[in-house]
Amino acid sequence: MKGPTERMRISVTEDGPYVVSGGVPLVCVEILTNADGESIGWRETGSVEAGDRYRLCRCGHSEDKPFCDMTHAVEGFDGTEIAGHESYAEQSALIDGPGVRLHDARRLCAEARFCDRAGGLWNLIERCDDPDARTLAEEQAALCPSGRYVFADVAGGPREPDLEPSIALVDDPSLGVSGPLWIRGGIAIVDADDVAYEVRNRVTLCRCGSSANKPFCDGSHIKAGFRDEG
Ligand code: FES
Repeated sequence: MKGPTERMRISVTEDGPYVVSGGVPLVCVEILTNADGESIGWRETGSVEAGDRYRLCRCGHSEDKPFCDMTHAVEGFDGTEIAGHESYAEQSALIDGPGVRLHDARRLCAEARFCDRAGGLWNLIERCDDPDARTLAEEQAALCPSGRYVFADVAGGPREPDLEPSIALVDDPSLGVSGPLWIRGGIAIVDADDVAYEVRNRVTLCRCGSSANKPFCDGSHIKAGFRDEG
């Protein structure tokens, strides 16, 4: 897997946008669902020309989404970062199954719903002596964009999907809403005081302005009916 370059970085600014530097690719993705409306995969639907350095809307009200147009300043956006700097390990509960372990940091949930199939991921974990259940459990955890879930093999350790360093603009067509920024491939993120968050393979950043766990998404974009029509 190709890692991020040293120049790739996302800076959260005080009550303002995300400043992205280092030529991070910007792409569009959507959640695929089956006939029962369950989330089953991802489809890349396009890319956005963004350049080496760009500013992404964080308040949800830019007329030029996904980019910032300074509306946050007009509207008095409160972008206070609430999430803190606890590591993923510190935030996670552990659920053990036969030969496997699921790490679950519920606070990071972006409501992409990949964990709902076949009775839900927590139940699947307990049935991992069945190879089909184990495969599906690992798949569901890997599809989770926020990294709420990490599947681990007790013998082999955590399993992470290969993700090219990039930012994906999430669309959720089955619910008719747009979702978070899906930060992939271990790109550094720093808060408004220039303090680094833990570097992870996948996280989701709020771009609707409504999260109660800023800068991370907490699924509030669904209730808010957030749309990026761009
Ligand atoms: S984008 Fe998900 S809570 Fe804002």
